[in-house]
Amino acid sequence: MEGLARRVMVVAVVVLMVMGWQTCAVARLITVGGSHGWNQNVNYTEWSTDHQHLHVGDWLYFIFDKHHYNVLEVNKTSYEKCNDQGFIRNITRGGRDVFQLTEARPYYFLSSGGYCYNGMRVAVYVEVEASETPAPAPAKNGSPPPRALNPMILSAIMTFVLAILLKPAVD
Ligand SMILES: *[C@@H]1O[C@H](CO)[C@@H](O)[C@H](O)[C@H]1NC(C)=O
Ligand SMILES: *[C@@H]1O[C@H](CO)[C@@H](O)[C@H](O)[C@H]1NC(C)=O
Ligand SMILES: *[C@@H]1O[C@H](CO)[C@@H](O)[C@H](O)[C@H]1NC(C)=O
Repeated sequence: MEGLARRVMVVAVVVLMVMGWQTCAVARLITVGGSHGWNQNVNYTEWSTDHQHLHVGDWLYFIFDKHHYNVLEVNKTSYEKCNDQGFIRNITRGGRDVFQLTEARPYYFLSSGGYCYNGMRVAVYVEVEASETPAPAPAKNGSPPPRALNPMILSAIMTFVLAILLKPAVD
């Protein structure tokens, strides 16, 4: 009976690992501006056109020089006018800052200090991910590739699990 208990334990651990892995595969980390990061003279309208399919749970990654720039979430009007007063949220920390997109809605960000006028504003449109048909992740401009669970790995894991379950108890 001890052998069986140990086996059940191993299976439970493997199943939890697979589940954890799949949860991670859903959320992505997307570097704003790709290899340019968060800087002046980058056209973030063009960048966001290439990153249309952001999903709830994804993270934005802002890489910038905190001595000059910052990242503020603002509303649409402020985004359009480059108004840095009365912002919604200050995302600025150390210049390697992440922000999770938790709602399906447009988000607007800008840098204050006048840099918004030099292009440092970005609008992203966040969708709920259709669970049956996950959209292929945009993996360009230095963004990390998504960690999707390869079906071959999944089937190997399932084979492993079944082998443990079906193995006759000898101990
Ligand atoms: C950014 O690119 C878009 C689309 O190509 C263009 O319409 C817009 O004028 C550009 N903005 C700037 C500030 O160059
Ligand atoms: C957007 O934010 C600005 C600054 O706080 C505020 O004056 C304006 O009324 C807001 N606009 C909307 C549509 O909420
Ligand atoms: C945003 O937060 C950073 C870090 O806490 C702070 O240094 C900075 O002054 C804040 N910026 C604004 C505009 O509030």
